[in-house]
Amino acid sequence: MTITVAGGGRAAAAGASCGEPSSRVPQPCAPSYEPVPLVFERLARDEQLRRSRAFLDTMATRRSCRFFSREPVPRELVIDAVRAAGTAPSGANQQPWTFVVVESRATKEAIREAAEREERDFYERGPAAWRDVLAPLGTDAVKAHITDAPYVIVVFARSHELVTDPLTKVVSVAKNYYVRESVGIACGLLLASLTHAGLATLPHTPSPMGFLAKLLGRPDNERAELLVPVGLPSEGATVPRHALEKKALDEILVWR
Ligand SMILES: Cc1cc2nc3c(=O)[nH]c(=O)nc-3n(C[C@H](O)[C@H](O)[C@H](O)COP(=O)(O)O)c2cc1C
Repeated sequence: MTITVAGGGRAAAAGASCGEPSSRVPQPCAPSYEPVPLVFERLARDEQLRRSRAFLDTMATRRSCRFFSREPVPRELVIDAVRAAGTAPSGANQQPWTFVVVESRATKEAIREAAEREERDFYERGPAAWRDVLAPLGTDAVKAHITDAPYVIVVFARSHELVTDPLTKVVSVAKNYYVRESVGIACGLLLASLTHAGLATLPHTPSPMGFLAKLLGRPDNERAELLVPVGLPSEGATVPRHALEKKALDEILVWR
């Protein structure tokens, strides 16, 4: 396989070739600009406020849940949440993400085993300052939520794409831009959608997460950013009081 570093992106991936067939080197290829009408629903003021408050009320109920019931939940809710995440803005619309939804018991067990191995190491030898800030959360190296939750979504960030020129078959590397920012926004939408659908979630980052790409058979251009168990809370689930303490509005909002 011949790999060159060049532009490329979605148009090339979709089959357009911007290179000279005879040159054997694909040229940077940008989709051409084509304006289409903006679809935008203009709401009445009171409707805007009603929706804004309803969304805020729902989001205020979101808690990172570490105790899951094994009760199944509809796949459609997870699919819709991934769809919602996929609407996220991204640098140059490159959409540098993949969402792997794990439902296989055996795979969840393998993830838990590997995550607990990493976490044991962290809780025994990790930086004391980092362990201190985690103390009020009451977390430890046992990660039963990974096997109890009906689904575990692993969000991967794609650093680049491999684009094959359909004519020359030369493969080029097309870098993705603002990958972490874009994936962070998509993760926010994913969590918001799942919360809105009445599901419990936990953004979880067993560190380091390199084992996830290997275990889930992901390609070299993908790196795990977040692991999200999804489901319903177990009977009697608790959350740390510390997590309820959010900064006041005047600490986070500045008008100029
Ligand atoms: C990027 C990120 C990584 C996180 N990693 C973990 C984790 O590995 N384990 C865990 O128990 N919670 C994890 N959390 C959850 C936070 O501890 C939690 O969001 C915080 O305590 C506030 O609680 P809340 O989510 O209920 O508001 C993570 C959250 C974020 C945003």
